[in-house]
Amino acid sequence: MNFKGRDVISIEDFSREEIDYILKNSESMESIALKGSKILEGKILATMFFEPSTRTRLSFEAAMLKLGGSTIGFADADITSVRKGENLSDTIRTIENYADIIALRHPLEGSAKLAAEFSRVPILNAGSGADEHPTQAFMDLYTIKKEKGKIDGLKIALVGDLRYGRTVHSLAYALSLYNIELYLISPESLRMRKEVFRSIKDRISIIQDENLEKVIPQIDVLYITRIQKERFPDPTEYYKMKGVYKIDLNTLKTGKNDLIILHPLPRIDEISSEVDYTPQAKYFQQVWNGIVVRMALLSLVLAT
Ligand code: NCD
Repeated sequence: MNFKGRDVISIEDFSREEIDYILKNSESMESIALKGSKILEGKILATMFFEPSTRTRLSFEAAMLKLGGSTIGFADADITSVRKGENLSDTIRTIENYADIIALRHPLEGSAKLAAEFSRVPILNAGSGADEHPTQAFMDLYTIKKEKGKIDGLKIALVGDLRYGRTVHSLAYALSLYNIELYLISPESLRMRKEVFRSIKDRISIIQDENLEKVIPQIDVLYITRIQKERFPDPTEYYKMKGVYKIDLNTLKTGKNDLIILHPLPRIDEISSEVDYTPQAKYFQQVWNGIVVRMALLSLVLAT
């Protein structure tokens, strides 16, 4: 399988075979992540982040460093010429001269696709508005596989802001390639986006509900997300939704013993901190998995 030079824009561009190959490759990065390597020596990753980030940007950079490569970039577009009015395509056509690969996070949907049209070097979509976050989905799948030993056969719930959350869009597309039962749990006004729902509905069985308590006893994986405050056109709507779902020790009591809780982070108030110390909590392991998955993607796309 050849990924050399390929952009990673949408998870929909990947087949199940390709996703499985990336997950396998991520597994082989576990030991390399501990000891480091020179696989990408001489290569440069540029991280262009027009939106806040802790994990995605730093794990891309750490992944590149662990492979022996180097990184340049910005975490605040306000200190770049964007402030002077430069557009995204000109910024891309500049940075492609300095780097072998670009990880881009941008508030506009379609930004990664647009960047890939202009760029000579591969673009990795590190979050395009409320649309997609494909590298997070690879990490989420990898976490499920690592913790459960499989993806097929599981009952998986995506909970929270399914409308504006980009991680759940990419993850839902990816999960629809597996033989799973998908529970989409959200308030009515934050239901899974129509485009995503339409494209996955014929591939897997989907249960849509508002009530989280009802489904907890049945599921194997609970993936909960933050209500995406910054994407609400009307702040009063956000305040109505804030705190709508909350996982605490009582919630866990009603679930299966081997239920796992995932969250892309940052968490606001969706999971109470007492849950962090239970065997079900896997969201900090997920953070480590972000490194190995991004190492796999960088090494496959930059294959020498
Ligand atoms: C997510 C994002 O940026 O979409 N964060 C991340 O990359 N892990 C989730 C979020 O912000 O809620």
